Amino acid sequence: MRTPIVAGNWKMHKTVGDTVKFVKEFRSVVKDVTGVEIVIAPPFIAVHAAVEAARNSNIGVSAQDLYWERQGAFTGEVSAAMIAEAGAEYVIIGHSERRTLFGETDAMVNKKVAAAFGAGLTPIVCIGETLDQRERNETYAVLDRQIKGGLDGVTADQLAQLVVAYEPVWAIGTGRNATPAQAGEAHAHIRKRLQGWFGADAADRCHVIYGGSVKPDNIAELVRHPDVDGALVGGASLEVGAFAEIVFRTRA
Ligand code: PGA
Repeated sequence: MRTPIVAGNWKMHKTVGDTVKFVKEFRSVVKDVTGVEIVIAPPFIAVHAAVEAARNSNIGVSAQDLYWERQGAFTGEVSAAMIAEAGAEYVIIGHSERRTLFGETDAMVNKKVAAAFGAGLTPIVCIGETLDQRERNETYAVLDRQIKGGLDGVTADQLAQLVVAYEPVWAIGTGRNATPAQAGEAHAHIRKRLQGWFGADAADRCHVIYGGSVKPDNIAELVRHPDVDGALVGGASLEVGAFAEIVFRTRA
């Protein structure tokens, strides 16, 4: 059985001070939660503070991106080793905002996945189609291309540890979530592809979580599908109450 994961992607929100305040409050609200892996992904600058504030709690910390080189003349970038040393255990890779606003390609995602594993981080690899692609019936072709390109060279053992986040681009930040049926269908497709490419055992252990306008009132229905192993939450992860409610309803 896969333990569901609920990860909060804060994007470019919250200062170091805001982060510490959130974690102090949030950790007491979720302290008795078992059976759900809880993760928060603050901006780079607050990762270490989040780790310190979450010490000895059931909350893990993620970065939102990384650069694949170990070190060097790459102004503005942060390596996997630096993230791991700061105490984070996860890293989000290939979020659609990185792809559309910052030109990230599947080849870049692939290098980042390798770098994350190299530093012992769990990659949360985002994939998903745009509205145009969905309307042209290209959803599965897009997902296949993103999985194949992004996870090229990943071993079965690594896949078992990896998290895939299915995030239809049209559902991100729009208030328009995929219906449970749409999410379930896409997740089942992804699982089938992972089985074909990495073997049944690895694919069964790999988490496939849903992202895109997840809220307290739609999470329970979304995670009811056996192939939906939790959620990547943007906007609703910024509020202690809403994010905690999503965690509670994931377990129920
Ligand atoms: P949202 O963002 O929950 O605000 O739609 C999800 C994401 O971008 O990961």
